[in-house]
Amino acid sequence: PEKITIKELGQKTNIEPVKLIKKLIDFGLMLNINADINFESAKRLLKEFGFEAEKEEEESKEKLVKKIKEESAGNLKPRPPVVTVMGHVDHGKTTLLDAIRETRVAAQEAGGITQHIGASQIEKDGKIIIFLDTPGHEAFTALRARGASVTDIVVLVVAADDGVMPQTIEAINHAKAAGVPIIVAVNKIDKPDANPEKVKQQLTEYGLIPEEWGGDTIFVNVSARNRIGIDQLLEMILLVADMQELKADYDSPAVGVIIEAKLDKGRGPVASVIVQKGTLKVGDIIVAGGTWGKVRAMFDSRGKIVKEATPSIPVEVIGFEEVPVAGDILKVVVDEKTAREMAEKEKELLKEKEDITSPKVSLEKLFDKI
Ligand code: GTP
Ligand code: MG
Repeated sequence: PEKITIKELGQKTNIEPVKLIKKLIDFGLMLNINADINFESAKRLLKEFGFEAEKEEEESKEKLVKKIKEESAGNLKPRPPVVTVMGHVDHGKTTLLDAIRETRVAAQEAGGITQHIGASQIEKDGKIIIFLDTPGHEAFTALRARGASVTDIVVLVVAADDGVMPQTIEAINHAKAAGVPIIVAVNKIDKPDANPEKVKQQLTEYGLIPEEWGGDTIFVNVSARNRIGIDQLLEMILLVADMQELKADYDSPAVGVIIEAKLDKGRGPVASVIVQKGTLKVGDIIVAGGTWGKVRAMFDSRGKIVKEATPSIPVEVIGFEEVPVAGDILKVVVDEKTAREMAEKEKELLKEKEDITSPKVSLEKLFDKI
């Protein structure tokens, strides 16, 4: 459609072809109604009539881009939320995670042994929630320091008998910096000296204002030890997740984050991965930081063999050549050659960096400086 006849041009613009032909004569061109003119000529001609011509082709290109966007948006499907539990020392993070796992995982499968893969997958009212097993902000900041952000929701544990403490504030700051919503779990409400109202009061100073005081922070009173308020907390997590409309493309090549990795005597390098986009499959060629591999086998958080992992679902991946580093981004690539090259390039970059800075700088210190 680089060319158009005078007749068509007339039809498109509602200008009488005779007028167009006359104008063309002014330009020194003698053409009949069925003659073709090119885009540039048509543009110049239409300008004489006060029209700004636009190539149809460009328009359709835009349409195509829009269509592709719509199509890929159509591939976006809801994904489960990934939750990190944070809070001050001894406020009950580990006990809370245990309580959640016990009431949810164990209840589902009597006698089922939960595999330690760095994250737990639990179910509430038919909906999945993923909890990162490493509580505290170490894991959170370690992942974030490497550019990975896997957490959708932070559950801030505050002991009702102790109140807001330094690490409570640190956790709030980390969550805020990452733009992750906070749900406050006011823990240890079974204790005689528990004062949940005081915790609420204290937290208003940090911008966490409960709904009943006109804010938008959800507070749930729990006793991790006595298993009180756990279901309510899970309901609130699902509520916040719903509002976030967490979605991911399930069809693209997988991209994920290494959340833990170790060398297993029998199985070689083992990495726990949370897929963020796409679907990771057995047989996929993968790269993560300076190492690469081919997915030989995968296990879910219950130790069951799985063939694929969809967004948010944590899996243990076997098949890396070397142990990757927690926080590294896992990517699926087309072939082994590409994988090897990418890993080698990354290794060289790492080496250069190590030459400049000491590799032993702790992440906590790094964050204190910022
Ligand atoms: P760190 O990992 O050391 O930061 O601590 P944590 O936040 O994981 O706390 P943890 O779960 O280890 O609990 C600390 C202590 O508080 C333990 O003795 C728990 O038994 C106790 N604890 C936790 N939750 C509750 C609770 O709801 N009520 C009571 N009374 N004690 C609790
Ligand atoms: Mg703990």
